[in-house]
Amino acid sequence: MRKAASLIRAGGIVAFPTETVYGLGADAFNPVAVARLFEAKGRPLFDPLIVHIADFSQLAVVASSVNRLAGRLAGRFWPGPLTMVLPRHERVPVIVTAGLPTVAVRMPDHLIAQDLIRRADTPIAAPSANRFGHLSPTRAEHVLAQLGDRVDMIIDGGDCPVGVESTIVKIEEDVCLLLRPGGVPVEDIEAMVGPLIRPSETDKPESPGRLPSHYAPSVPVVIAESAERIDFHREDAGFLLFRGPQVETPAGRTEVLSRKGDLREAAANLFAALHRLERLPIRVIIAESVPERGLGIAIMDRLRRAAAGAIVGEQEGVR
Ligand code: TXA
Ligand code: MG
Repeated sequence: MRKAASLIRAGGIVAFPTETVYGLGADAFNPVAVARLFEAKGRPLFDPLIVHIADFSQLAVVASSVNRLAGRLAGRFWPGPLTMVLPRHERVPVIVTAGLPTVAVRMPDHLIAQDLIRRADTPIAAPSANRFGHLSPTRAEHVLAQLGDRVDMIIDGGDCPVGVESTIVKIEEDVCLLLRPGGVPVEDIEAMVGPLIRPSETDKPESPGRLPSHYAPSVPVVIAESAERIDFHREDAGFLLFRGPQVETPAGRTEVLSRKGDLREAAANLFAALHRLERLPIRVIIAESVPERGLGIAIMDRLRRAAAGAIVGEQEGVR
């Protein structure tokens, strides 16, 4: 941890675990180090980063103002998988926010992430530690495979317990917009602040990185409404099932996210299962839908984005 912190202070880039996914971190106040993050990921410069803090005192150096609504959400959900888009402090380099007047901030609920930020003694800008457009990493080995030769260090903290990226909300006065469903269930936020506004992705992209095709494995994904509609005889397919199947499925080509159908467990297993499937000699991944509540909203969001790059007919392998 000492070495990792001194690398960050010296302008290096370090991959580290958070409760959601692994991040690739740099000193948020060092624009040259942040530029290295974009380069390592192959990420376009118009896509801004999340700044990670370990203490409430660090919020004041990255955001120019924190209103009552933002303060309440922070008090309830931090540390945790909630990112808030707030007015940017002028000290934050423009490369971090891609020139936007706002900055995305979160306080991760992971001891290694917190320890790294405290030892480095600076907020850490970190995108997910994957190549641009690919699956997010939930294990150190996923980072090693995608970015091993491009980073200064990878801290192995085992599996990420939540497994999907943070929920992103934008705070505009007393209005809360949902930019990305994620690790904090939308219902939990709505229980506190009332219905969230969901900006339509077609009229005004509120989150520049929310491309319709994203989080994509290297094999096309097709979504089936239910497991009953999946043709398990298809030999060139891998199967991503939400719960323990009622029928026999091809061993070695089937991933079950949660035997008992628990959405938290399913989210925690999602990316590791997709990483395993994409390494198989298959032409398509057929995924069972999950119920769209709680973490199921984030899971279906990621599956739909993965499926947007699909090149096979929607009905192939799905009845
Ligand atoms: O769980 C997570 O959020 C992980 C871990 C590492 O913290 N990070 C993560 O970062 O998923 P990334 O870069 O893969 O996704 C950040 C998203 C992007 O879609 C970006 O466009 C959006 O946050 N974003 C960042 N700053 C923003 C801003 N000022 N306004 C709107 N969207 C913003
Ligand atoms: Mg990402």
